[in-house]
Amino acid sequence: MEPILTRYARDPEQKKIDVAVSHGAYEAAKKALAMKPEEVIETVKSSGLRGRGGAGFPTGNKWSFIPAAAPVRYLAVNADESEPGTFKDRLLIEGDPHLLLEGIIIASYAIKCRTAFIYIRGEFTDGANILREAIREAYAKGILGEKVLGTSYALDVLVARGAGAYICGEETGLLESLEGHRGQPRVKPPFPAIRGLFGQPTIVNNVETLCCVPPILSHGAEWFKKIGPEKSPGPKLFCISGRVRKPGIYELPMGIPAEQLVLEYGGGVPEGRKIKGIIPGGSSAAVLGPKQFGTPLDFDSLGKIGNMLGSAGVIVLDDTVCAVDALTNIMRFYAHESCGQCTPCREGTAWSVKILTRLERGEGVPRDLENIANLTRMISGRALCPLADGAAMPLTSFFREFKDEFVAHLEQKRCPMRGAAVPGEQRPLPLESGTHA
Ligand SMILES: Cc1cc2nc3c(=O)[nH]c(=O)nc-3n(C[C@H](O)[C@H](O)[C@H](O)COP(=O)(O)O)c2cc1C
Ligand code: SF4
Repeated sequence: MEPILTRYARDPEQKKIDVAVSHGAYEAAKKALAMKPEEVIETVKSSGLRGRGGAGFPTGNKWSFIPAAAPVRYLAVNADESEPGTFKDRLLIEGDPHLLLEGIIIASYAIKCRTAFIYIRGEFTDGANILREAIREAYAKGILGEKVLGTSYALDVLVARGAGAYICGEETGLLESLEGHRGQPRVKPPFPAIRGLFGQPTIVNNVETLCCVPPILSHGAEWFKKIGPEKSPGPKLFCISGRVRKPGIYELPMGIPAEQLVLEYGGGVPEGRKIKGIIPGGSSAAVLGPKQFGTPLDFDSLGKIGNMLGSAGVIVLDDTVCAVDALTNIMRFYAHESCGQCTPCREGTAWSVKILTRLERGEGVPRDLENIANLTRMISGRALCPLADGAAMPLTSFFREFKDEFVAHLEQKRCPMRGAAVPGEQRPLPLESGTHA
């Protein structure tokens, strides 16, 4: 497939507005502004575009949830990208900021909003500067501001720097943070499209989702629908990382089998090694064991086996990786990033780190295995936001796929992969990890 979203993103000149315009930037926005907002929504609806931020919710449907009578509406662009294994939005932000701005203009016009916020991960300093410069150029050329592209439509776009927490990427945590509060998720419903930023209807969309919108307007909904599986159409950016020879970002139709992606694009695992597990959708997704390597990477195929495409951050483990160690590492992230509002999430993630660390150090006790299984049940579906379910997914799946290794740690009183009774030399393992940071 010819790249669509990343066609120009690796060209260092593309961030300049004149170069982007010479490549056709803002033509789709002109087309959209000549349509009625409702027609733009219908086009996006019939393209079948589903959100690329993790949940795969149909974008056009989300846009149509804004109450017709609402006098003020906002668009909040989710550029927080903090999920381990995920680095695709960064390429779009830094490489083709005008594609994102064009998507923002079309989405804002469709939902009749006059102010859009780009909430960008605090650590993305380059990205924030590139966006600010692109926005400045767009105002100077009359592409943003009082008369967008010479029409009567007015739009302001502002950049907000993220607060440095993974939870600020969760849509309601993001809204809290944008309002200047601590980034803690809100109870839903009401959903942001009904009551969002400053109490007004707000659409929260991922960067890649918005970058799909200009090509849909340019080439039509039918063209988009023909790319990839019927229910997960359109181009998708897959991030490949971990134990592979060619880590990177690959733009492909969804539906490619996991193993094929790793071998054909990721270059496979290092010489002489075997693929042990594939995490298909960032650290919140379940790890695929060998029997599931043929699973097509799209929303529904992964959903059917209780997994998810999430942010399509594909993390590869080979047979040198200890499953207990890898899981400890992942759970440490969730324990650190839990916002602390819900006891099952706050305590469950912290306890899992404590138990896993003990097992990895060869200090496990027989109850540990039972407790890991119980913790999964106690966390999943019992908290306010999907961070907790996302933390339970690796816990359940690693335990299911690699149970023998957990048992071996317990029985041998050491990590069999490290081959040493005390593995601490390789990476410090904190003993007191039960407290919430
Ligand atoms: C803990 C957590 C972190 C998230 N981080 C991001 C993120 O960095 N970027 C993103 O677009 N969506 C993230 N999401 C998903 C958003 O809540 C939301 O579903 C998404 O931004 C909606 O956009 P979309 O419909 O275009 O996918 C996160 C969700 C959770 C639970
Ligand atoms: S599930 Fe976890 S991260 Fe989400 S609101 Fe509750 S404590 Fe915070």
